[in-house]
Amino acid sequence: MSKTIDGNEAAADVLAKLKVAAEQLTAETGVVPGIAVIIVGQDPASVYVAFKGKKAKGCGFHSAEHALPTQTPEKEVIAPVEKLNADPRIHGVLVQLPLPDHIDSSRITQTIAPEKDVDGFHFINVGKLGTGELDTAFVSCTPAGSMLLIEHVHGRDLSGLNALVVGRSNIVGKPMANLLLRANATVTVAHSPTKNLPRSADILVAAVRRPEMTKADWIKPGVTVIDVGINRISDGSNGKSRLVGDVVYGEAATRAGAITPVPCDVGPMTIALVMANTFTAASRDAGRGVALETCG
Ligand code: GUN
Repeated sequence: MSKTIDGNEAAADVLAKLKVAAEQLTAETGVVPGIAVIIVGQDPASVYVAFKGKKAKGCGFHSAEHALPTQTPEKEVIAPVEKLNADPRIHGVLVQLPLPDHIDSSRITQTIAPEKDVDGFHFINVGKLGTGELDTAFVSCTPAGSMLLIEHVHGRDLSGLNALVVGRSNIVGKPMANLLLRANATVTVAHSPTKNLPRSADILVAAVRRPEMTKADWIKPGVTVIDVGINRISDGSNGKSRLVGDVVYGEAATRAGAITPVPCDVGPMTIALVMANTFTAASRDAGRGVALETCG
């Protein structure tokens, strides 16, 4: 049986280090890291927003939440983003996705000042990741968190290892591939229309949002599996549902060397990395480099 990768424990470790680092930053510079989260509508994601606020406060950060009604016009979402861009108490601005259909998510994301874009979604940050300018970039939090979990198993240098990323989203798949490349892995990116997935991967990151698309016989024994997928499927005819990942967990767990459990254990790492990025933003604002090593 494979080793379970404990995302909760890894996230708690990041948050504990952040708390100490933030106390030090505040004591030495007077800067209190500040994060603002905007949510539009009562999406189930509101639970995560409350959770982010709680974790931010636990790290000693200043935290603000702006909840807007579902029907809020786009320009009334842009206005608070612009206000937060100019607010010196706020170092990280995050607009929870998905947004209601009448709002252009990309327009909102690109309105966030790149130096406060703790999601790493702004084109400037995406470009910096692609070109290796990480000293001044922010990296998308789920791939950055997944990278830390991979590091726990394989260390920082992935030279000689084959990595397979299943999924090509801007939020997870593409930045994940870039981070793995940066760590010297040999990277293949597959996606839902891919036929004949390569079976040579030492590291497999599944982020395709297709329930149990990755079968156990697609992976070689000993692989490290990071399953980012959270998919709700019907559980037979009893009207109930259950959560599954992008990988067939039971079978994969018998073959993998190490695997994240289902439901996804990467979520706590994503939130921890949002806090790490906020700390980084505050450190940069205070004229300091990054004290905390979070994503290569
Ligand atoms: N919704 C799901 N994941 C994310 C994320 O990483 N950032 C934001 N802003 N919204 C999300």
